[in-house]
Amino acid sequence: MNDKIAELRRRQQEAEFGGGKERIDAQHKKGKLTARERLELLLDANSFQEIDSFVKHRARDFGLDKQRFPGDGVVTGYGKIDGRLVFVFAQDFTVLGGSLAEAHGAKICKIMDTALKMGAPVIGLNDSGGARVQEGVVSLGAYADIFLRNTLCSGVIPQISVIMGPCAGGAVYSPAITDFIFMVRNTSYMFVTGPKVVRTVTHEDISSEALGGADTHATKSGVAHFACDSEIEALDGVKRLLTFIPPNNLEDPPAKMCSDPTDRADAELNDIVPDNPNKPYDMKAVIQRVVDDGDFFEVHRDFAMNIVVGFARLAGKPVGIIANQPAVLAGVLDIDSSRKGGRFIRFCDAFNIPIITFEDVPGFLPGTDQEWRGIIVNGAKLLYAYCEATAPKITVITRKAYGGAYDVMNSKHIRGDMNFAWPSAEIAVMGPKGAVEIIFSKQIAAAEKPEETAEKLIAEYTAKFANPYIAAERGYIDEVIEPRFTRPKLIAALEMLQNKVDSNPKKKHGNIPL
Ligand code: HXC
Repeated sequence: MNDKIAELRRRQQEAEFGGGKERIDAQHKKGKLTARERLELLLDANSFQEIDSFVKHRARDFGLDKQRFPGDGVVTGYGKIDGRLVFVFAQDFTVLGGSLAEAHGAKICKIMDTALKMGAPVIGLNDSGGARVQEGVVSLGAYADIFLRNTLCSGVIPQISVIMGPCAGGAVYSPAITDFIFMVRNTSYMFVTGPKVVRTVTHEDISSEALGGADTHATKSGVAHFACDSEIEALDGVKRLLTFIPPNNLEDPPAKMCSDPTDRADAELNDIVPDNPNKPYDMKAVIQRVVDDGDFFEVHRDFAMNIVVGFARLAGKPVGIIANQPAVLAGVLDIDSSRKGGRFIRFCDAFNIPIITFEDVPGFLPGTDQEWRGIIVNGAKLLYAYCEATAPKITVITRKAYGGAYDVMNSKHIRGDMNFAWPSAEIAVMGPKGAVEIIFSKQIAAAEKPEETAEKLIAEYTAKFANPYIAAERGYIDEVIEPRFTRPKLIAALEMLQNKVDSNPKKKHGNIPL
C-alpha cells in the first residue's frame, strides 16, 4: 500500500506542477500568477477541493502525444468564499498556453453541470490561447459545449468571469454570456480578432491593450464590468460581488446584521437638489447617504456614466440600485446607458434582488447618432427589463421625470411597487421651456414682447406641472416624501414587499428587443 500511496503522491505533485518551472517563471515574469496561486487567493483557506487533476487529452497529432500534462491546462473544483460554496475553473497558461480542447472543455462542463445541480455560482479564471490548434474542430466543439451550459445556467446560478490573460476569437463568447466580467489592466485582453488581423483587414494599427484591454472594455464597449489594476484586486472584487448575490435563483440574497439605524434621517438630503433645475448634482452622494453605512458597490463604473448601477444594502438586505446621474450628460438616457441599466435590472430580477430606482432624467438623447444606431430598440431594452421584472421595485423621483423616460424608469404603470417623489420632482411630458414653445408658439410670435410673454408662460407652466402633485393626485406617485426620510421610507417599503408574489404570463420566453 505504501508504494501505491507514494505513486499517488508523485502523480499529485506532477499535476500541481502544471507546465513546469520554466513556464511558471515565464508566467510570473509577465506579472501574472499561476492558476493555483489565483485559486488560493480567491478561495477560503484550505477549502479548495480539486476534481479531475489526472485528466489528460487523448490527441496524437502534431506532437501532442508527447505533451500530455495531467489536468490538461485547467484546474477545476469547488471551494468556499466567505464560507459559501462556489465552483471554479482556472485555466493554466503554463500548459499548452491554457488552450482549450476536448478534455479541458469537458472538465469545465463537468464543473458547470455540478454547479447547476447544487445551485452554486461558477467562477471562471480565464487565461488561454484559445482553441487548441492541434485538436482542430474538437476544440470548437468543446467551446460550444461550454457556451450551451453558460446559456442554460444563465438566470439559474450566477456566473462570473475573470479575464487574466488572452481571451480571443470565439472564446470571448463564454465570458460574454456570463453575468459579470472582471479584467486586469495590461495583462488581459478580449477580442474577436487580434491586432494582426485588424491590421490586414481594416489597416488600423492598434495594440492589444488598446483594442481589447481592460480599460477599453470597461469604458468604450461595456463588455467588462470591472477594470482592475492587479489580479489580486480582481479576485477581491469577485469576493465582494458575491456578498450581494444569492447562490441561485431560488434562494434569497445574503442578509447581514445592520448597525446603521433603519430609521436614520439625513438632513443633508433636503438640500442636495439645487434650486436651479439645470444645475447638476451627484446622484452617487444621494445613494451613499441612503444605503447602509454609505456602502455602495458600483458595477460598470466607467461605462455610460449617465446611469449608475450597483449593489448596496438596506437594513442588511442586498438591493440593486439603478440611478440616473444628473452630473453626467444631465442624466439623459442613451443607447449605452439603456443597455447598461437593462442588463443590470435583468440580473437583479433573475436573482430576486429588489430593484431601487433613483430618477432624475430629462428624457432620451436626441440626434442622428443615437437614432441611426438604434436608440429606439436599445431604449426599449431598458423599458422591457423594467416591465418584465417581478422582484420588488421601488422608485424615488428626486427631480426630473420627463416624457417617455418617466414611463421607462420603473413608473407605477409598469408595476413599480412603491413610487416616491421628493417635493423637487418635476413630472411632465417635457421641460417647461420645450412645452411652452410647442403649445404657445403662435401666441409668443404674435405678442408685443415675445420674450417676456414666453417667460411668463414658462413660469405658469412650471408652477402648474413642474411638481410631483399632479402625478400624486392620480396615484401615479404613492407618496411625496421629505428627502431626509428616504432611507426609512425605502426600508419600510422593502419590508412590506418581502413576500411579494408576482408573475408574468406563462410563455417559453419573451422576445426582448435585442
Ligand atoms: C495550442 C497554443 C495556443 C493554441 C498558445 N499555445 N496558444 N497551443 N493552441 N491556441 C502555446 C504556444 O504554442 C506556446 O507553446 C505556449 O502556448 C505559450 O504561448 P506563447 O506564444 O509562447 O505565449 P505568448 O507569447 O504569451 O503569446 C500568447 C498568445 C499566442 C498571444 C495567446 O500564443 C497566440 O497568439 N496563440 C494563438 C492564439 C490563437 O490564434 N488561438 C486561436 C484563437 S481562435 P510552447 O510549447 O512553445 O511553450 C479561437 C476560436 C475559439 O480560440 C472558437 C470558439 C467557438
